[in-house]
Amino acid sequence: MIARATLRDLDAIVLLEREGFPDKLAYNRRQFRHLISRARGAVLVDKAAGALRGVAVVLWRRDASVGRIHDLVVRAQHRRAGVGRGLLQVAERHARRRGLRALSIEVAEANTPARKLYESFGFRPYKRLPDYYGDGEHGLRLRKPLE
Ligand SMILES: CC(C)(COP(=O)(O)OP(=O)(O)OC[C@H]1O[C@@H](n2cnc3c(N)ncnc32)[C@H](O)[C@@H]1OP(=O)(O)O)[C@@H](O)C(=O)NCCC(=O)NCCS
Repeated sequence: MIARATLRDLDAIVLLEREGFPDKLAYNRRQFRHLISRARGAVLVDKAAGALRGVAVVLWRRDASVGRIHDLVVRAQHRRAGVGRGLLQVAERHARRRGLRALSIEVAEANTPARKLYESFGFRPYKRLPDYYGDGEHGLRLRKPLE
């Protein structure tokens, strides 16, 4: 089941982030607390039998017409079961409800699983981001129009 995260999900979210991004966390605990309680956007969690299977963050700025998926991680043992796609679908629903015109996402060029997922979901390359991660690895900004 996918729902908005509450502060009670914080511990599990931070553990999952460490598993998904051992080298560079998308957000730390303090930032997740802020995102859950105050951000313009949604922190979405997929849970089965009370256990966290995946998390996604979608954010939008005031007056912006393009929302951003800032984070998407699925627990290793639950991958390839549609959890990532389900989280993207709910993120997109939130973005449409806000009246956003498009969604964007940034991904490491070498991250094949994520790129395949985003492409199959309708995201298309929009901009190349040279040395995006500061370690020589390039990134890609992808976009999906919502009209
Ligand atoms: C990327 C990630 C979120 C995908 O989550 P997931 O729940 O496994 O994805 P889904 O099961 O919803 O996959 C949907 C589709 O995406 C594509 N896909 C997903 N993982 C893939 C892989 N390892 N190889 C090839 N295609 C893949 C397939 O088209 C898949 O459909 P199919 O299983 O019917 O063939 C997950 O691998 C992950 O958490 N990775 C580590 C964190 C990360 O890199 N996040 C993205 C940062 S931008």
